[in-house]
Amino acid sequence: MIDLNTSRVLVTGGAGFIGSNFVLYLLKKYPGAKVVNLDKLTYAGNLENLKSVEGDARYSFVKGDITDAKLVSRVMEGVDVVVHFAAETHVDRSIMKPADFVLTNVVGTQVLLDAAVNHKVKRFHHISTDEVFGSLPLDPAMKFSEDSPLKPSSPYSASKAGSDLLVRAYSKTFGLPITITNTSNNYGPYQFPEKLIPLAITNLLEDKKVPVYGQGVNVRDWIWVEDHCRGIDSAITKGRAGETYCLGGPEDMISNLEVVKKILAIMNKGEEYIEFVKDRPGHDLRYAIDSSKAEKELGYQPTIKLDEGLEMAVKWYVENKDWWARIKSGQYQDYYRAQYDSR
Ligand code: NAD
Ligand code: TYD
Repeated sequence: MIDLNTSRVLVTGGAGFIGSNFVLYLLKKYPGAKVVNLDKLTYAGNLENLKSVEGDARYSFVKGDITDAKLVSRVMEGVDVVVHFAAETHVDRSIMKPADFVLTNVVGTQVLLDAAVNHKVKRFHHISTDEVFGSLPLDPAMKFSEDSPLKPSSPYSASKAGSDLLVRAYSKTFGLPITITNTSNNYGPYQFPEKLIPLAITNLLEDKKVPVYGQGVNVRDWIWVEDHCRGIDSAITKGRAGETYCLGGPEDMISNLEVVKKILAIMNKGEEYIEFVKDRPGHDLRYAIDSSKAEKELGYQPTIKLDEGLEMAVKWYVENKDWWARIKSGQYQDYYRAQYDSR
């Protein structure tokens, strides 16, 4: 059994969206935990997310790349548990520049796994995505589970599938005690405004339109980020080594267009703020997760429904304009032009 309250935990990618939410969650829930955050601080990493724990003696930060084997080996010393978030994560960027995704997501994961084996960590927990399973038709009876075959569509999901396979292989070949969670689309505080929900909210706060790919019929399974953090916690502390757990949100079958309309309604904006743009190449139609294994074995249960979560997300971005306005005023603008101007 893993006791996070007495563990030294290496969090990779802890300055990103889910990683920073997890660091804050961990330090709050486990007063005895020690957390080392290893992050390269790419465009997606932001230490502002962790300002509230900066002076906490239980927390330390190392700036570095997970593909740097020497550094990773040094940071791994004395670590009990690794929680591996660090990745390139945006599908649209993976279409622009796949090489970054293979390097960080595949090679970086292998470097971490080697160090974890050498340093005999008690648990290597890998954060993955439902996108590795490919796309489902619009049939509510069909969902992804732990037994679904890996059928990734994008360079992002292919590189995540590669990392999942390596993690499983290190369990079988080297006996590394691993767990994997495959989770659906997260949303909540500190999400970089290139992903649909924060992009929609912040565009509307700037009185700009929301770009919707294709006809907006694609369906995602949405999970509030703190529900995900609790799921990760339970997979580490209650999950069996060697196992994969799928963690989904509380609802499914909500199209992107419906999500955007819900955000418009919360923000008192009309549908003239929707702009249909050219579809994403290889755009997966639908993701949906069957969480029954995690419910049974881990007692996992997502608590925040989409309507409530969207209200909370809008409130967070309204109250934290400085955080996202700084991001949107920098290199983000080059990305936005490259991604949307020609659509
Ligand atoms: P994010 O893009 O917000 O953050 C990624 C973090 O990793 C950043 O802080 C970045 O600086 C860091 N990083 C990137 N390359 C690195 C490298 N080479 N070395 C060290 N650090 C590096 O990502 P996120 O949305 O928080 O996702 C975290 C993890 O969860 C990823 O593994 C992702 O695949 C997975 N996931 C995300 C979602 C989602 O909806 N966001 C859903 C399921 C799974
Ligand atoms: P995204 O947040 O990029 O997550 P993922 O591609 O990993 O699911 O996109 C969520 C959905 O929203 C996806 O179907 C693509 C769509 N989308 C838009 O319609 N417009 C946008 O500007 C973005 C970024 C995404």
